[in-house]
Amino acid sequence: MTAAAESATVAGDAVALHIRDVGMRFGGLWALSGVSFDVPRGAVLGLIGPNGSGKTTLMNVVSGVYRPTTGEVVYGGRRIADVPTHAVCHLGIARTFQVVKPFANLTVRENVAVGAMYGRYGAKRSTRASFERAQELLEGVGLARVAERPASDLTIPDRKRLEVAKALALDPDVLLLDEVMAGLNASEVDEALELLRAVHARGVTLIVVEHLMKAIVSISTSIVVLAEGKKIAEGAPADVLSSPHVIEAYLGSRWAKRQQSLTAIERERLAAERLRADDAR
Ligand SMILES: Nc1ncnc2c1ncn2[C@@H]1O[C@H](COP(=O)(O)OP(=O)(O)OP(=O)(O)O)[C@@H](O)[C@H]1O
Ligand SMILES: [Mg+2]
Repeated sequence: MTAAAESATVAGDAVALHIRDVGMRFGGLWALSGVSFDVPRGAVLGLIGPNGSGKTTLMNVVSGVYRPTTGEVVYGGRRIADVPTHAVCHLGIARTFQVVKPFANLTVRENVAVGAMYGRYGAKRSTRASFERAQELLEGVGLARVAERPASDLTIPDRKRLEVAKALALDPDVLLLDEVMAGLNASEVDEALELLRAVHARGVTLIVVEHLMKAIVSISTSIVVLAEGKKIAEGAPADVLSSPHVIEAYLGSRWAKRQQSLTAIERERLAAERLRADDAR
């Protein structure tokens, strides 16, 4: 990072997150290499790319799940690549998981209240206030109707809603959303977009990973495209999506599109099965 960028961040500038030359190696595979971009404060940054292009890996790096092999992430003037995930969360970065991870034996309400108790402002919140916050969030995401059910009872779309409510309960400044609309039908996608717009309107910076272009186009203020672990384009949605380079990357993968969409459905089904198996244990 340039000294200017760093001092600008320290001064609390217009950039929420600096991602600088991030590389992540798994054995012989570089899942990410040389990825650099800034996420403007108040942006909705759409992060797109074919399957396996490194989107989830980048979310794992930013949220402290993985320590990158190279590079740095700067948030609020602080280098966070080495900061553990719970501390990243306390700094104000929350994320959802592509394969949802509720506490299966807790109720839906308890799942969200746990976030409110242990998140950024958790230390200042009583148990009662945490449950009140959980109630507000459950109403916001449309889960109040199942608040007393164990999380393991939820359908996949409801598990996605719960994943968003749990992340919001952490009171994030930056929220990373990894395919929260996968498996939702058209009207559920519209509801999810409305919810994300409301979250954004409250000042939260969003990084949104989705394969659904309609959703990405309608919500993003800017887009970054990954392919094979590298950033291949960045800019305003209309410019990025009309770029021949990006079209080529997608055309290349379009042949496999049918297979990919089956894979996405398959992935959801397998995730549900895995959760059921966990619950049964
Ligand atoms: N923990 C890991 N160990 C080894 N390889 C990994 C690991 N996590 C990811 N990879 C590999 O890194 C590459 C990028 O994976 P990643 O999950 O980040 O892609 P993605 O863009 O999120 O894909 P999708 O759209 O399918 O979710 C893939 O080749 C994947 O197999
Ligand atoms: Mg992914």
